[in-house]
Amino acid sequence: MQIAIGSDHAGFDLKEDIVGLLKTLNIDCLDCGPSNRDSVDYPDFGGKVSGLVSEGKVERGILICGTGIGMSIVANKYPNVRASLCNELFTAKMSRMHNDANILVIGGRIVGKDLALEIVRTWLATAFEGNRHLMRINKIKTIEEDLNIHGTGKS
Ligand code: RB5
Repeated sequence: MQIAIGSDHAGFDLKEDIVGLLKTLNIDCLDCGPSNRDSVDYPDFGGKVSGLVSEGKVERGILICGTGIGMSIVANKYPNVRASLCNELFTAKMSRMHNDANILVIGGRIVGKDLALEIVRTWLATAFEGNRHLMRINKIKTIEEDLNIHGTGKS
């Protein structure tokens, strides 16, 4: 599995910690930046990661900003993306089991390093349950199609 990761300045330190964790887990990690703590705009980096997940170029993504809210708003604009803001373990687990979340968002100013790394471990280790939850996810796809999110938007 390849995971794309990105942050803004408020999530930079935690992004570096998570990249380190992914390396120790031997998970292929595509770091979409930023490369330092300079102030940046979260839509730029959230968009890079979300676009890769949306187009199926990577299986999963991880995004970190200050609260996780901005990155969540950006990511869920992209078709096929199911981004979940998980600042604790229960949500991390449920977002995989029930929502098949393909982008994990964490608030770097909310969660300490140790909990954040445990959230990532839990999110990666938890499988989607399928069944009735798959039927609900298919309804999200139908909404995207009805809104013409997959099309040009010009029809
Ligand atoms: C940056 O100051 C902050 O606004 C950003 O990291 C994020 O929390 C936005 O939702």
